[in-house]
Amino acid sequence: MTAASAPGVRAASGATRGIDGILDGGLLAGIPPAALAEEFGTPFYVYDLGLIGRRVEALRSVLPHGFRTAFAVKANPALAVVSHLRRCGVGADVASGGELETVLRAGFDPAAIAMTGPGKRDEELAAAVAAGIGFIAVESPGELRRLEEIAGAAGRRQPILLRLAVAEDARLESVRIIGGAEGKFGMPLQTLIETARAAARSEHVELLGLHAFGASNLRDAEQIAGHVAELVEIGRRVAAETDTPLRLVDAGGGLGIPYSDGEWPLDLARLGRRLTELREGWDADGHSELELVLEPGRFLVGPAGAYVTRVVDVKGPDSAPVAILDGGINHLLRPALVQSEQRLAVLAPDPGRAPVNTTVAGPLCTGLDVFAAGAMLPRPRVGDLVAVLDVGAYGFTESMPFFLSHPSAVEVAVRNGRAQLIRPRVTLAELLDRQVDPDW
Ligand SMILES: Cc1ncc(COP(=O)(O)O)c(C=O)c1O
Repeated sequence: MTAASAPGVRAASGATRGIDGILDGGLLAGIPPAALAEEFGTPFYVYDLGLIGRRVEALRSVLPHGFRTAFAVKANPALAVVSHLRRCGVGADVASGGELETVLRAGFDPAAIAMTGPGKRDEELAAAVAAGIGFIAVESPGELRRLEEIAGAAGRRQPILLRLAVAEDARLESVRIIGGAEGKFGMPLQTLIETARAAARSEHVELLGLHAFGASNLRDAEQIAGHVAELVEIGRRVAAETDTPLRLVDAGGGLGIPYSDGEWPLDLARLGRRLTELREGWDADGHSELELVLEPGRFLVGPAGAYVTRVVDVKGPDSAPVAILDGGINHLLRPALVQSEQRLAVLAPDPGRAPVNTTVAGPLCTGLDVFAAGAMLPRPRVGDLVAVLDVGAYGFTESMPFFLSHPSAVEVAVRNGRAQLIRPRVTLAELLDRQVDPDW
């Protein structure tokens, strides 16, 4: 992890206006962190809904006609966050029956919901069909057969896309669809072509087009646009070869964000220009009706979240202290999971505390539970608040809350300057009450 710029040296603009992050002028979503800690206790996640709205708008404003955005709920399934994204006018991409229930409860129009992801159980497919969602991305010939039966039994014709496999190496670096090997996600191109023919013959599904997720956390506009271009190109070839229509292409998520001070954000203007060029080309080729879906998760919510903990112990020499926090990878696993740097800030330290080489660790009994080793931070003291930034995506939801039986983190959302508890702490008593100790 790297240390964020000291809050005191940032422009104190009062309310957060930009789209880059939740910490501005020492405030989190415009609110003093100590006030949030006082009201909600630590550890807590806090999300700036206004910032999420501005990120939605920033992306939408560069997209050409025919492009829609569906929020990938896996990034942050908190009901209040999902509801807010509905208010912002985006659709929803769900990857499980649980996420489907979440977005339905959040009031999404079923037509604006997509279901993607491997391993959909029959009851999840049935729930999606019954809800009348916009489309289901089918991962395999077997899934198509199960869906046909389910839709047939429900007396529905379910709109679908077919998911194309992406080269394994593409998941880590560049995006190159080769429609190649059989793997966990989607279908190789040849299988997809055969499945498209089967889908076209079916009374119970309506084939709309193709889906493929390229790669995660891309901050290069050219790579993202290249993925979209290649997918549409393959979609056109499949449509021509199988005599099926190409009405919709879902190019997945993967729009990236910076996680450390040295990284640049995605150049949205450039992405917009490249997508507009592509759009003009498709329009000129008679594909002006072709619809495109992007499913960003991280991009929309990542920078809008912070995880805030309190220092419970400080040890080691003054020049290289070790601060132990009241929360760690039990609430925020991502940095350890993907070994990625993430910005960290000691909140509101008194002026004059010089930055020192600091290790910041959580309370769990594992060496993995370290947020920063050697970060230059104002020398921490017991009682200080420490924030990990850019955790609005894959934070709370991607962690290991049961390890060591600590209470969960709470989640707080801020909208129009008002902070609201959106998920209370799960206490140990609640966890124990749900368990059974049989009377053998
Ligand atoms: C099918 C699909 N769509 C969208 C996403 C969201 O990705 P991101 O949060 O990187 O935009 C994922 C992430 O795993 C995914 O698998």
